[in-house]
Amino acid sequence: MHRFWDERYAEEGVYGHEPNPFWADQLSRCTGTHVLLPCEGEGRNAVWAAKEGWNVEAFDGSGVATATCLRWAQQAGVQLQATHADAFQFEGRAEGYDVVGLFYAHMPEPLRKSFHTRAMHWLRPGGTLLLEAFNSGQLRRTSGGPRDEKMLFTESLLSEDFIHLHVSLLKSESVELNEGPYHQGPAEIIRLVAHKPH
Ligand SMILES: C[S@@+](CC[C@H](N)C(=O)[O-])C[C@H]1O[C@@H](n2cnc3c(N)ncnc32)[C@H](O)[C@@H]1O
Repeated sequence: MHRFWDERYAEEGVYGHEPNPFWADQLSRCTGTHVLLPCEGEGRNAVWAAKEGWNVEAFDGSGVATATCLRWAQQAGVQLQATHADAFQFEGRAEGYDVVGLFYAHMPEPLRKSFHTRAMHWLRPGGTLLLEAFNSGQLRRTSGGPRDEKMLFTESLLSEDFIHLHVSLLKSESVELNEGPYHQGPAEIIRLVAHKPH
């Protein structure tokens, strides 16, 4: 699996250099200091958060993407921690993170729920989860994402996976993606904002 991603990231900027718009908008409303971006790829969201003054940790299963993330941070003149790690091995800081951002982190169906459970664990009490991904309607689109319906999300699936969080936004939307060559055009997405109880 990680080989597939290493090959994709041989070309740089596959999801663009700019932060995801939902991430940029929602992070500016969050409070705290520490951000975690699991499955962060080349670091478009991590570098932006670091520029905004957050203390940023990111990880990805692709070593090629992680190297790009570190290079982009250096080029932007910001410090962040980017680790080449699998989502089921990464541990993170014991105190947890104020914000965890899951962006287009689609796992194979048998792993999805336990990955989402790990994401809840990475949050500190009171912390915020921000998520954007493709919903099941994306199968009829050609703007990116997995071609396996079981890897796509629905509102009820995310409600169940994140049942221990307080959800403040959970919405499917039709949008126009403009995020590099692999997220381009009309798309069916889902967005979530949820908070871990104190
Ligand atoms: C569609 S890309 C999204 C990248 C980034 N979040 C963004 O929005 O630009 C999905 C990412 O998940 C990573 N990934 C997939 N499975 C993983 C796993 N088990 N552990 C760590 N990373 C994984 C891939 O390497 C890839 O970078």
